[in-house]
Amino acid sequence: MKIGIFISGTGTNMAAICRNFFENRLTGVDEISFVLSDKKNAPGLEKAEKFGIKTIILPKKKDEAKEDYETRLLEAVSPFGTKLIVLAGFMKVLGTTFLSGYEGKIINIHPSLLPSFKGVDAQGQAFDYGVKVSGCTVHFVDETLDGGPIILQQPVFRQDDDTNETFKARILEQEHILLSRAISIVSCGNYSINGRYVLVGR
Ligand code: GRF
Repeated sequence: MKIGIFISGTGTNMAAICRNFFENRLTGVDEISFVLSDKKNAPGLEKAEKFGIKTIILPKKKDEAKEDYETRLLEAVSPFGTKLIVLAGFMKVLGTTFLSGYEGKIINIHPSLLPSFKGVDAQGQAFDYGVKVSGCTVHFVDETLDGGPIILQQPVFRQDDDTNETFKARILEQEHILLSRAISIVSCGNYSINGRYVLVGR
């Protein structure tokens, strides 16, 4: 299966996917067709280029309607024929214009155990709340914020001497593993969905 990756920032999750792909550890994926960023200076773009992956920079214009931006996004990616889009630190909430073109074919990594701590800085939210355990989640994307059916989750326990930064770093380490596992599951069609429940392995 051909996949495409959307990023907005540092792109360490994207780089982990690329590393796994080029080391033949991403079962079911034949090609990473592109890395798209909505931020023109995203450091992840340089990382993608080092892997030799085609990069696309597509920022939203000032005052552009969400629907118009998403139409441009669709036009940019549809020629690649990718069957799965992976949101790896992509900081925009996609709406129906884009989603209708890729129903059930977009997944996202979120750095908390959903449905807790949706939105930005989920790790900081969890840390400030004083949780003993948080983690990361890979889920299908629907039109709600961090709300689609959950594919995989990985708990990460907070240590008493964790700072916000060390807790975040240990969650990120797990994100890098979890996202590639989820991509392989979806690419191989190794799942079924019963309501909101994603049954992996059948
Ligand atoms: C990750 O923590 C991801 O879960 C969140 O944003 C961060 C992106 O990191 N949505 P990177 O760009 O993959 O390094």
